[in-house]
Amino acid sequence: MARAKSVFRCGGCGASAPRWAGRCPGCEAWNTLVEELVAPAGSEGAGRRPPVQRPMRIAEIDTEEWTAGSTGLGELDRVLGGGLVPGSVTLLGGEPGIGKSTLLLQMASAVAGAGGRVLYVSAEESRQQVRLRAERLGSLAAQLWLVAEASLPDLLAHVEQVEPTVLVVDSIQAVHDPDLGAAAGTVSQVRACAQQLVEASKRRAMATVLVGHVTKDGSLAGPRVLEHVVDTVLAFEGERHHALRLLRAVKHRFGATHDLGLFEMGDAGLAAVPDPSGLFLADRRPGVPGSVVVPTVEGRRPLLVELQALVVPSPLATPRRSAQGVDGGRLSLLLAVLQRRAGLVATGADVYALAVGGVRVAEPAADLPLALAVASAATGRVVPHDLVACGEVGLGGELRQVAQTERRLAEAARLGLRRAIVPSSAPAGPAGLDVRRVSTLAEAMAALGLEGS
Ligand code: TYD
Ligand code: MG
Repeated sequence: MARAKSVFRCGGCGASAPRWAGRCPGCEAWNTLVEELVAPAGSEGAGRRPPVQRPMRIAEIDTEEWTAGSTGLGELDRVLGGGLVPGSVTLLGGEPGIGKSTLLLQMASAVAGAGGRVLYVSAEESRQQVRLRAERLGSLAAQLWLVAEASLPDLLAHVEQVEPTVLVVDSIQAVHDPDLGAAAGTVSQVRACAQQLVEASKRRAMATVLVGHVTKDGSLAGPRVLEHVVDTVLAFEGERHHALRLLRAVKHRFGATHDLGLFEMGDAGLAAVPDPSGLFLADRRPGVPGSVVVPTVEGRRPLLVELQALVVPSPLATPRRSAQGVDGGRLSLLLAVLQRRAGLVATGADVYALAVGGVRVAEPAADLPLALAVASAATGRVVPHDLVACGEVGLGGELRQVAQTERRLAEAARLGLRRAIVPSSAPAGPAGLDVRRVSTLAEAMAALGLEGS
């Protein structure tokens, strides 16, 4: 018998190298190569199954079989464009503790309660732990089956036995196949296990959802390669200490990937957020300098978010620049533009900027409101409470229109805001909104009485 060989595989991008190197030849990350055993050639084909499908005339193919079935959670359906497609595999990525298990348990219970048959495989937690959580969530549906299992062959045997319409595997990183040489959690294990689950899902027309843990920098821990194996990749995000959770589709083979799902984590699990803009602005205090509302767009969903800035004299030789929920590099750039093009000098001051409510507003539309918030904080002059601003700021201090301005302004008007400042090229706003057009940052500041002194 041929001896198992080894390769060195990158934990980030999955590229392989015949020998160890300090830097991955694929993604050029440092120290990511890990040794793995590969099964000898020929062993792969040994247990080959007959083909799952036979070729058919294109017109004879039944599309009914592939229509999405509701998950019972409106916000999840919205992101999936209707629900889970039979035979599809979805990867739900998110940082530990963000609420992936909670979301899927709620989904599993809703699907089981609506006539589906769900198998929830917990590869990390015990049955008792999952059951306790389910009790808390009121998720003890009769057709929700639970097993604590981390071995892939056994998991597949449970699937054969239960014959679920929906399978949840929590998490794919904890599942391993003892027939593979590599250790649990390595790229080749995770990928091979996912591939077998994809095959089983297609064969049984079973919708599978895999949980994938994501590291702090946002990449799927280890197997970015998984993104190519599955049909849909969902990202579950939010600040751990805030209740708000955002769900979006990063990849979706069955439709557009634009819609955003919003949940609030509470004592009874995740609840849909019907009016997010109202939620974000609920605790806003009028009359405080450094606060400006931005009408941001997440996918196709407009959200009004308050941006805040604080500018204070710094005791430090290198003053502090702190950005939470807004882009730190963008903040520095805007401070430079404010200084050079609008005469507002923040040298010697610490500058703090944040997006309220645990959301991340990283789009260019936030440039103008962020710069105005800093100018307001620096001058101590208040920006009107009922004003929104959006627009991209160029290095010359010029303002550029951003996509979907009409939708943004309509949302502002819907929530009762009365004024807007936008770049001069922006389209007309809705009735009831007094839209002021300006072509430079300095002009916008002058319109609000925020000129640098
Ligand atoms: P969990 O779903 O276990 O996260 P993940 O699977 O992504 O690691 O959720 C973990 C957090 O959610 C934990 O800190 C407790 C909190 N939580 C609630 O606030 N309310 C609830 O009803 C539940 C079930 C969890
Ligand atoms: Mg979990």
